[in-house]
Amino acid sequence: MSSTLHSAPKPLLQGQDWSGAMGEKWNHWHQRFEAMLAPIGAATLELAACRNGERVLDIGCGAGATTLALARQVGPSGQVLGVDISSALVQTAAARAEQNGIINAGFLCGDASILKLPHTGYDLLFSRFGVMFFNDPLAAFRNMRLMLGEGGRVAFCCWGPPPENPWVSSLAAVVSRHMALPVPDPLAPGPFAFADQIRTRTILEQAGFTRIQFTPWHGKQILGGPGLDLDEVLQFAEKAFFVGDVLEGKPEQLCQQVLADVREFLRSRQTKHGVELDAMAWLVSAGCAGKSSA
Ligand SMILES: C[S@@+](CC[C@H](N)C(=O)[O-])C[C@H]1O[C@@H](n2cnc3c(N)ncnc32)[C@H](O)[C@@H]1O
Repeated sequence: MSSTLHSAPKPLLQGQDWSGAMGEKWNHWHQRFEAMLAPIGAATLELAACRNGERVLDIGCGAGATTLALARQVGPSGQVLGVDISSALVQTAAARAEQNGIINAGFLCGDASILKLPHTGYDLLFSRFGVMFFNDPLAAFRNMRLMLGEGGRVAFCCWGPPPENPWVSSLAAVVSRHMALPVPDPLAPGPFAFADQIRTRTILEQAGFTRIQFTPWHGKQILGGPGLDLDEVLQFAEKAFFVGDVLEGKPEQLCQQVLADVREFLRSRQTKHGVELDAMAWLVSAGCAGKSSA
């Protein structure tokens, strides 16, 4: 099917407005996104190795799942501050902390790349997939570096290269049988902005971090999380993931054809756990000059 008659699709997973529509979308579907990210989040928390009494920042905390986990790890004498640019997500995260009786977690709505905190000296800057969306990542990491104190360290995860992440790339390939998708800019803010280990290392070094380590994580992404049936996964792919975005404004017949093809692809990857696709992420740790790393 030719795409020449139709408007060009938006860049895939780039140029998203996390302070607005994208934040609200993530908020609506946060339980499913969190279920997908839980295994990599657990590996990142392990890497962070929080200790009792530590003060931790959770950057791009989303709906707060990792903030609450960190708060439990640092115990009552520790503190965690979740920072996110989406007010919808910050509200959800704060409500969850309250519902769970967690009093050592706070939340702040703001852009972590420019935010000035009244109190700094944090022990750990943590993030589960929340640091790849900065327009100027070097300026952002320089700013976040100022939030850390003596002995401060960093632990975050970010996606590896698209070809190693078929949970996105193979789904995109199915859609692109029907319409030309724009070639993503590998440097643009988006999930794969830190895929290039050399570029990310350079950003961290220039921002003043040392002892930078990248550990590859290989595993599965279960689309929409475990336990969904095929219709639920298709609904997730369309409404929460990017499939619906690229179909926006397209003729009904084309949309139906794409969705039928996507459904068939998802069916071919269905296991007893759900629709499972390979994924690769980097687990990144670093310290600050003259300070110890994670
Ligand atoms: C992929 S989501 C991950 C959310 C959460 N860490 C999780 O794992 O569930 C990325 C998060 O980064 C946040 N974000 C994007 N740009 C940001 C910025 N400049 N400052 C703070 N948060 C930002 C988004 O609002 C979103 O919550």
